[in-house]
Amino acid sequence: MDSIQLADALSKTPVTAFRAFETIGSTNDEALAWADQGAADFSLVISDEQTKGRGRFDRRWVTRPGSSLAFSLILNPSPVEIEHLSLFAPLCGLAVHDAVKVFFNLEPEIKWPNDILIERKKCCGILVEANWTDGIPNAVVLGIGINITQDSVPPSDGQLFSAACLEEFTHCPVDRFSVLQHVLNNIQKWRAELGTSRFFEHWTNHLAFKGEQVMIVKSEKQSIIGVEKGIDQHGNLVLLLDNNEEKAFEVGDVHLRPLNTSNNSGGNHA
Ligand code: BTN
Repeated sequence: MDSIQLADALSKTPVTAFRAFETIGSTNDEALAWADQGAADFSLVISDEQTKGRGRFDRRWVTRPGSSLAFSLILNPSPVEIEHLSLFAPLCGLAVHDAVKVFFNLEPEIKWPNDILIERKKCCGILVEANWTDGIPNAVVLGIGINITQDSVPPSDGQLFSAACLEEFTHCPVDRFSVLQHVLNNIQKWRAELGTSRFFEHWTNHLAFKGEQVMIVKSEKQSIIGVEKGIDQHGNLVLLLDNNEEKAFEVGDVHLRPLNTSNNSGGNHA
């Protein structure tokens, strides 16, 4: 990683301190440990390669050298922000969405709760974790992985879902650190709007599969089909079921799948 370019990009963001690695297990693990030692708000961990990158639902997240943006941002949430803890992941989704849209003039969509899709293929995954003391989160770690070059996309063999990278759509080399700079500045912007009607409006406006039939999968044996209506004021996904009942689903152990498409959105997990 070019440390001069990185430092230059970060100097145009609210980042207060950073640790940059050529290779690491997981930037989230490093960030959680640093947060435990009292890292300042808006401290950043970034690595060119991750050997034990983690995704949601205990999946692996592969980060090959030079192929991706893999970073974790430490925030020390205020008491008001703690009330909106579940919105930190969608906050990252909004920040990445806006960076990709504005910087590359692409039309990304946010797959609830927070994956970023372009042409229905996943280009970015988000894993938010927290350090807790006496039941209170004293640090939140926003882990973001963005596929940049083709090398970040795993072979499709045996993959349940499609993944893609930014360069597949920009058709020209992407400057990783400019993307990073935009995402970090957008995180600061949307953080100030956490839980506001503007936040939910923006999220809903760019939601993937809105008005389409989707399936919420709770387990292998339990799934519910309905038309995706939008998001409620708690960040839950609202479906209109066949019996005309509206049902809200909490972020947690549920998976969202589009129906009638072979092009499900997945990650770069192996
Ligand atoms: C997912 O879609 O399952 C979430 C993937 C999150 C990957 C990022 S890469 C940076 C940070 N470090 C990790 O170990 N995971 C997150």
